[in-house]
Amino acid sequence: MASYLQDTDHTHSDADDWLSSVRRVRTTHLQRCRDRGQRFSMLTCYDALTAAVFDEAGIEVLLIGDSAGNTVYGYESTVPVTLDELIPLTRAVSSAANRAMVIVDLPFGSYEQSPAQAIASSVRLMKEGGAHAVKMEGSAYYAEHVEAMVQAGIPVMAHIGFTPQATNTLGGFRVQGRDDAAERLLVDARALAEAGAFAVLIEMTASPAVEAVVDGVDVPTVGIGAGGSTTGQVLVWQDMMGLTGGKVPRFVKKYADLRSVIADAAGAYRKDVLDGSFPAPEHVFED
Ligand code: KIV
Repeated sequence: MASYLQDTDHTHSDADDWLSSVRRVRTTHLQRCRDRGQRFSMLTCYDALTAAVFDEAGIEVLLIGDSAGNTVYGYESTVPVTLDELIPLTRAVSSAANRAMVIVDLPFGSYEQSPAQAIASSVRLMKEGGAHAVKMEGSAYYAEHVEAMVQAGIPVMAHIGFTPQATNTLGGFRVQGRDDAAERLLVDARALAEAGAFAVLIEMTASPAVEAVVDGVDVPTVGIGAGGSTTGQVLVWQDMMGLTGGKVPRFVKKYADLRSVIADAAGAYRKDVLDGSFPAPEHVFED
């Protein structure tokens, strides 16, 4: 039996393909990607079946984003999402992901009041949900929170640039980091990284400001609508697979058209039920 101290995280059989051979993706592997100039992939995920598929496809990081407010719960924004809503989704994803690192959002209202509140909420997400780390939206103001969380054993990914929980403060869906705001973004990123954040996620931000952050911090960066300079990329899976109805942001690349695949299958099923061709004899128990 392997000792619990044995390093089973990776094998070094193929130096060029070390990331694929990692058995469980951890913060150290994301840091190694950054240090070697290698990229990693991240997708949102909210249930066990999808988590198993993404894990088998080799996606390095699965995020139970508070975008679950839109994609799972049908809210208009992420603001109403609660810890109690994210915990069961996190448990489902973490139970199905054998290799991917599982990160979950601290939802609006679960961390702002104090470092102690942020620690208490993160502990629930890790103990009850099985997450390996949390993601927290916010500026340099939250450096104190991050420091306390990391001291308490909670790995934190900081989320800067466009922060959807603050849409009402930011004046709507606007690209961040333009003009004077670029300097502020770098100050935020540095403060959060120095406080101990293991990575910085940058959302919907102008490329020059993103590049300054990528060059200005020692930790890996993840981008969504932030250009190609970051270590990792993340997208909301329903957006990139064409399940989301209506308009998706310009930064989304559509890799499939699941909405029409599912709609066609549902329509074909309905037709078969209505005309009696389903169930056919092979679907029936004769005795
Ligand atoms: O909640 C979420 O899905 C996110 C991603 C957009 C990064 O924070």
